[in-house]
Amino acid sequence: MSTNTVDDKRKVTTSRLIEMKQRGEKIAMLTAYDYSMAKLIDEAGIDVILVGDSASNVMAGNITTLPITLDQMIYHAKSVIKGTKRALVVCDMPFGTYQGNSKEALASAIRIMKESHAEAVKMEGGSEIRESIERILCAGIPVMGHLGLTPQSINKFGTYAVRAKEEREAEKLLADAHLLEEIGCFALVLEKIPAKLAERVASELTIPVIGIGAGGGVDGQVLVMHDMLGINQGFSPKFLRRYADLSTIINQAVGRYIDDVKTSDFPNASEQY
Ligand code: KIV
Repeated sequence: MSTNTVDDKRKVTTSRLIEMKQRGEKIAMLTAYDYSMAKLIDEAGIDVILVGDSASNVMAGNITTLPITLDQMIYHAKSVIKGTKRALVVCDMPFGTYQGNSKEALASAIRIMKESHAEAVKMEGGSEIRESIERILCAGIPVMGHLGLTPQSINKFGTYAVRAKEEREAEKLLADAHLLEEIGCFALVLEKIPAKLAERVASELTIPVIGIGAGGGVDGQVLVMHDMLGINQGFSPKFLRRYADLSTIINQAVGRYIDDVKTSDFPNASEQY
């Protein structure tokens, strides 16, 4: 029996997300990087699946999101799309594929859409990447913005601490949020910023604002799946709620399997031909 509360089986689109905001219905978003997990979370009723460049950390074991390539993101997004029926699938544009040159940015976004069949892209940054976002939007590709802690800029920040605590940075974030809405982004992710600021952004914008470490006053929440399922044990920020302890479950299951193999308990008579 399914325990989720989602009865609406219609495909989630960018315009349906805006309607959800208008109705005051919260948006639930999670990351996924492969077919099997995408299928599980789609069947559980998740609204948006983000093929995050956090794949660089949780799938490839890198310390930052910077090394993941466009080809690797397309591979992950292609697998996720095959497992997804209802959720909107958004694919992160990886570091170095959109920051420098808007023509290159458009070529990267087109590759993602054509080769993976993802339904939108996400890009980190505000006014600095305006030209790239506008060019991609002009091609009919929906863009989700991402402000606050933007992990692709870790080498500039030097830390993953809370962003926009100071007035100047908060003002810039607010201006960038309005700019992203004005130029046509369909939604905005706010990562690790004060809850009051996030709530203000969500109340001033008509597009959905989805938070991670940005408090409850926004229009939806996103978490990295490996963190919320307790697969990734080494990451415990204040904002993270763990819904399962899969690392313990997997460790115990694998331990039992090893014991069964070593003691010749597995396979038994009914488990062979
Ligand atoms: O890559 C990612 O998983 C993300 C989320 C943390 C929003 O960008």
